[in-house]
Amino acid sequence: MPHSLASRLDVVQPSVTLAMNARAAELRATGADVFAFGVGEPDFEPPALVLEAAKKALDGSVSKYTAVTGIPALKQAICARTTAVRGWTPKPSQVTVAIGAKHALFNLALALYEKGDEVIIPAPYWVSYPEQVKLVGAEPVVVQTDEASGFKMSPEAFAKAFTPRTKAVVLCTPSNPTGSAYTESELRALLDVWKKTDSWLIVDEIYADLVYDGFKPVSAASILAGDADAMERLVIIDGVSKTYAMTGWRIGWSIAPNRLAKALDMIQGQSTTNATAIAQHAAVAALTGPQETVETMRLAFEKRRTAMVEGLRSIPGVKCRMPEGAFYAFADCRALYGLEYNGKAIASDEDVAFFLLEKAHVAAVPGGAFGAPGYVRFSYATSEERIRDGIAAIKRAIDGAKRL
Ligand SMILES: Cc1ncc(COP(=O)(O)O)c(C=O)c1O
Repeated sequence: MPHSLASRLDVVQPSVTLAMNARAAELRATGADVFAFGVGEPDFEPPALVLEAAKKALDGSVSKYTAVTGIPALKQAICARTTAVRGWTPKPSQVTVAIGAKHALFNLALALYEKGDEVIIPAPYWVSYPEQVKLVGAEPVVVQTDEASGFKMSPEAFAKAFTPRTKAVVLCTPSNPTGSAYTESELRALLDVWKKTDSWLIVDEIYADLVYDGFKPVSAASILAGDADAMERLVIIDGVSKTYAMTGWRIGWSIAPNRLAKALDMIQGQSTTNATAIAQHAAVAALTGPQETVETMRLAFEKRRTAMVEGLRSIPGVKCRMPEGAFYAFADCRALYGLEYNGKAIASDEDVAFFLLEKAHVAAVPGGAFGAPGYVRFSYATSEERIRDGIAAIKRAIDGAKRL
């Protein structure tokens, strides 16, 4: 049909969070004090030296295109930081700097997946993983995990998900939305399963610097570094958004074997070209400068995590696992089903989220969006005081609601 939109759009889910954000914005416009537990970004400012580096870069030569896959200084900084904190050493030629990790993942989807391919994704998953797979005509194969197993996929369930059509696997550790992270032995067991296949493995390590209670995150690449065949099929995703509170700067990257890195260079060369030059310079400063602010932020998140999880657990019937990392608490909110909202009984996580927004002015994200109906994701990227007040508002709203 002339003027029609591409049929690939038919398979993509509209975002529930957009509807929620719109309603939260409406409420704020009426003067309501909305608790922002829905956001996926740190409330901190980036380290001061990042902003100084950006200002300094402005006086230099940042108004021109850079190399498509990033300025050499940034690629070197990424390799050095990867060595220091992830325990393995990639080459600059493997790095593709993209416009955020989300863009890096989308480039990978374009480079790797096509019609007929399956991509294994454990649930709960970050919303964009399956949607990107669908956008390029491939099929997500979701492996359900549950709270009892810490939202972690077992090697047995993982092995069962492979078919001759499996093209890739996407793992995220620590995870958005659950905050769960694989221990070294758990990850090794999954990698042993994967190594026996001929698929690609994409590991999103964007939250690996935000871990708590002494948890030691281990990079899949450091485990696989001595295995040449595995390293030819492994991609690591990382970025500055979460670690340095730089979400708006849009700098993320993939570290891939050279054959794939060349393909990503070509895809990016025909689509976006380089990530914004000034943001690349700011990212160099973040990665090479003193790292104290990262630790300050991590410690603050650790305290907030306790406040949020304990607060949620203090709501009768609500269950919430203590997460190892990221900045999300993922709570089983099915105990709220049956409360009256808009003349009807709450019957889904979406109803719970809209009830919390309307009656407690708490914005949070319903778990269905992450493949986990019944759950709600509460971000604790906000102050302890706001967390406590938000929990109190939730309790008041529940106390004021009839059970149908
Ligand atoms: C698991 C995960 N990966 C990637 C991203 C995207 O990060 P970026 O801001 O670098 O695009 C996010 C952001 O929410 C995320 O939660």
